Amino acid sequence: MHTATTPVATPTTYPPSQKTVRNAHVSGRAAYDRLVAEAEADHEAYWARLAREFITWKKPFTKVLDDSNAPFYKWFEDGTLNASYNCLDRNIERGLGQKTAIVFEADDGAVTQVTYADLLERVCRTANALRLIGVKKGDRVVIYMSMSIDGVVAMQACARIGAIHSVVFGGFSSQALRDRIADTGAVVVLTADQQVRGGKHLPLKAVVDEALALGGCESVRHVLVTKRTGAEVPFEAPRDQWMADLLAVQPTTCEPEWVSAEHPLFLLYTSGSTGKPKGVQHSTGGYLLHAALTCYWTFDLKPEDVFWCTADIGWVTGHTYITYGPLALGATEVVFEGIPTYPDAGRFWRMIQDHLVTVFYTAPTAIRSLIKAAESTPAAHPRNYDLSSLRILGTVGEPINPAAWQWYHDHIGGGRCPIVDTFWQTETGGHMITPLPGVHDLVPGSCSLPFPGISADVVDEAGNPVPWGQGGILVVKKPWPAMIRTIWGDPERFKSSYYPQDFQGRYYLAGDGAIRDAETGNFTITGRIDDVLNVSGHRMGTMEIESALVSCTELVAEAAVVGRHDDTTGEAICAFVVLKGALPVGDQATAIASELRTWVAREIGPIAKPKDIRFAENLPKTRSGKIMRRLLRSVAKGETSTQDTSTLENPAILEQLGQVY
Ligand code: PRX
Repeated sequence: MHTATTPVATPTTYPPSQKTVRNAHVSGRAAYDRLVAEAEADHEAYWARLAREFITWKKPFTKVLDDSNAPFYKWFEDGTLNASYNCLDRNIERGLGQKTAIVFEADDGAVTQVTYADLLERVCRTANALRLIGVKKGDRVVIYMSMSIDGVVAMQACARIGAIHSVVFGGFSSQALRDRIADTGAVVVLTADQQVRGGKHLPLKAVVDEALALGGCESVRHVLVTKRTGAEVPFEAPRDQWMADLLAVQPTTCEPEWVSAEHPLFLLYTSGSTGKPKGVQHSTGGYLLHAALTCYWTFDLKPEDVFWCTADIGWVTGHTYITYGPLALGATEVVFEGIPTYPDAGRFWRMIQDHLVTVFYTAPTAIRSLIKAAESTPAAHPRNYDLSSLRILGTVGEPINPAAWQWYHDHIGGGRCPIVDTFWQTETGGHMITPLPGVHDLVPGSCSLPFPGISADVVDEAGNPVPWGQGGILVVKKPWPAMIRTIWGDPERFKSSYYPQDFQGRYYLAGDGAIRDAETGNFTITGRIDDVLNVSGHRMGTMEIESALVSCTELVAEAAVVGRHDDTTGEAICAFVVLKGALPVGDQATAIASELRTWVAREIGPIAKPKDIRFAENLPKTRSGKIMRRLLRSVAKGETSTQDTSTLENPAILEQLGQVY
């Protein structure tokens, strides 16, 4: 019993305003409940209805879901469509040819706008260029470009001719790029001479050259290079060709390749529990449906909106919420080349003001770092900008802590914009658990309830539902159209990673823990339950970083990597390293730590650099030789260990591990 003298700390909730509810595509809780009930009553009929409403089919599908070879589910398989047709031609046929599709702001502030008609023409020329050099339906094309209209065009052009794109984030190293090119068996790499970020010119073409020189990329016949800075880059004709030369002679129309809904639209590599990244394969029909539908319901996109998703096209968020979803709805969107802190930390807020952005979608890490910047540099404070155009805010990629949520709500949203905290993954294609702006009472830190049609739940290790209020494992109980289809070249890994036998292969395992609020059933994601870290919203496998460290064979004998909490980046990477030589101390240890960071940046990319490095003569192991990771996690946190170390083979090494470099 609570008495008046023992107040209960209930979280503040933020119901949507009446105006938001009235105008929203899903208007009010009853409307949401009706959609959920419709999906529960007939899952297939529900998704079929939406697939007919949101996608223009060349040939309508007759069968909705084929589950005869579960978990290799197929959706709308005998229907044919083209993703690029749905994002471009269809909008022009609806009279939107002169509507602005993309407002592009370059790193230096230069703004370029393209209409739907312009974009279609550019996509057609690029698609024709790809066809001319022999790219066929089903061929893989690796795209290693930065944020640009050309990047979006490259992806759409692949979709137009049925080629499967695989975008590699421009921050990945030549080694990481090589691994992805080799795994996809790509026939072409699309790149640019350089990329520009934060005032710096960084190489792209040179990295592609390095990647190809590493070997294993014999499938690559051509490298097409777009000019971004005009810098001199090495050029190896006839393999390398300037994109502009090819485009100059291409027709401005291009008949789309009509593909089955199950035809792979793209592969995107993401980290898992082993050292080898997984090529997540997405379909065309089911994926595009979810991309469009979530833009319509979660972001409530209307014809007059200006949408801005700050993600990079190298991540899934950039695929679904830049290249496909907003364009499928005929929306106007902002694409940004640069970084939030250049030329100053007011960049995002100035861009919202200048482009009259109405719906803004970013990552909690960006918000946290901009809070810090606003506190230390008054000029970067959002109060200096007119943000009154905003009506909806979103976050993605990692849990948002309530304090950051509150700041975002108060200072960016002016207290009036609902925040959609969208939980999803590379594998899910689009939002899975998220508030809808005109539906849910928002609770900071909670992603509220499943998107209608997504049967998410929290279960125990045996797969039994746990009562609300108790933590457990997040699963999805029914297939959904945008789900991952397989891991490229490794169907067994697909099955064992996502449909494990622990649950008799019945449920999709997200790899996250979650807890549902005891009263409302709202979900809060409690973080990964596997060996995957989330640093600044970037997903990384601990094993991947360990493999990178031990590949430094001259120095490293053994390495273990764990995560620890970090106030800005969410999690930070902590590496425990045993060197081949003697245990280093002082300046020597600092120098080796810096060498190892550079090594990891070269192997994977700068995002994978360990923040903390600790050295020891051995790693804490049990007598049977297993690394005691739980112990390492508490060392990484700086905790004085209360764990039982009696099984530890060599307790003295705990002392050595105390020093961080
Ligand atoms: O741990 C969850 C976290 O990010 C993981 C997926 O990462 P990735 O495939 O790179 O996709 C990121 C963009 C969709 C999830 O397993 N995550 C993502 N969104 C949230 C989140 N954690 C908490 N809250 C979120 N809104």
